[in-house]
Amino acid sequence: MRSAASRLHKGFSFAKRFQGCSDWICCDGAAWAGRWDAWAPGGTVRGKAFSHVVLDLGCGKGEYTVACAKLRPDVLFVGFDVDAVCTLRAAEAASAVGVDNAVFLMDGVPSFGDEVEAGIAGGGAVSCGDSGNPSESKARELADRPCSTATGARGDSPDASLTPVKCPEQAHASRASVRQGARSGAPAEIDLSTVFAVGELSALLMNFPTPFPKKKKAHLRLTYLDRLMGYRPLLGRGAGIRLRTDSQPLRDFSLTQLELAGYEITWRSDDVRAEFPDEPWSAYERKLTEQGACAFGIAACPGPAPEHVEQTAPLSLVSYLPDNLDRLEYVPHGMQGCVENLRNRNARERARGKQEFRPPVI
Ligand SMILES: C[S@@+](CC[C@H](N)C(=O)[O-])C[C@H]1O[C@@H](n2cnc3c(N)ncnc32)[C@H](O)[C@@H]1O
Repeated sequence: MRSAASRLHKGFSFAKRFQGCSDWICCDGAAWAGRWDAWAPGGTVRGKAFSHVVLDLGCGKGEYTVACAKLRPDVLFVGFDVDAVCTLRAAEAASAVGVDNAVFLMDGVPSFGDEVEAGIAGGGAVSCGDSGNPSESKARELADRPCSTATGARGDSPDASLTPVKCPEQAHASRASVRQGARSGAPAEIDLSTVFAVGELSALLMNFPTPFPKKKKAHLRLTYLDRLMGYRPLLGRGAGIRLRTDSQPLRDFSLTQLELAGYEITWRSDDVRAEFPDEPWSAYERKLTEQGACAFGIAACPGPAPEHVEQTAPLSLVSYLPDNLDRLEYVPHGMQGCVENLRNRNARERARGKQEFRPPVI
């Protein structure tokens, strides 16, 4: 799959676009930890504190985040996406609407090397999407991680520097650093434990997160055990996480992870849209619904912390596919290729009079 950056048009200038919406971008989330309820556009401080702080993790272009912000002016919606181009688009959406309760995180100011700045000649409009591989995004991100405060010192208190620094002019990615990022395979992630104080979040939303079906990428799923353990301290009393996904395998995998991480399921739905018709649409919900998807939903709150944290669940999403693939009307996002292969293999086995092939549980 192509990354958002690979679809940028030739004249795309991240720095220019960034300047246009920088009031809705925070490049130094750590400076606001414990104080997000006072955030205002441009990194100024608002008079009346927000009643809740909600994180939209993997926010994409922010359609959902901004729609929620419009509906709930008393709540601060913080969006984060590993794809900095998506984050930029999300901030532009917030700026266009003029909401004062949506902010999008970047870990330092992303840099675009010449090769990316030039874009793909003949490319269309800038579009964000699920590259399915955060490491692709990494190739053109955060080469200038320390570029986070006016003084260059990370973690300055908001009192010392109330305005998160926006310094795209300082951003420069050497080709070497870009390639190094690409090689490392590490997603352009942000350490949420430095961005939010203990108990600061009223909810953590995951809308149609990237499924990463392969076993070797399971750790990148937002509902992977280690990540769920990491979210626990950030959630306030009674606060929880909410997952919406088109993917029954990802839903079922997530249930195993929630149990291992000591979460208690407070709600489950096999058709969230039917239950909540007025819920704002996310871009992926719209796109996947048009392809026949129905949104599964789970809400869960941290219960007693597990005494022993150990990954015991099958990690490939193939393990969570139903037995009869021929009756599967909707193939989850990201699994089309593998389901087609399995169907073809089964057809071949049937034709040879053999038992149908079931992939091993891995
Ligand atoms: C399928 S898109 C969904 C976007 C949006 N939530 C929606 O529903 O339209 C998944 C997004 O998650 C982002 N993503 C993947 N891994 C992430 C991570 N570890 N942290 C934050 N975002 C992530 C991807 O870059 C992508 O934009």
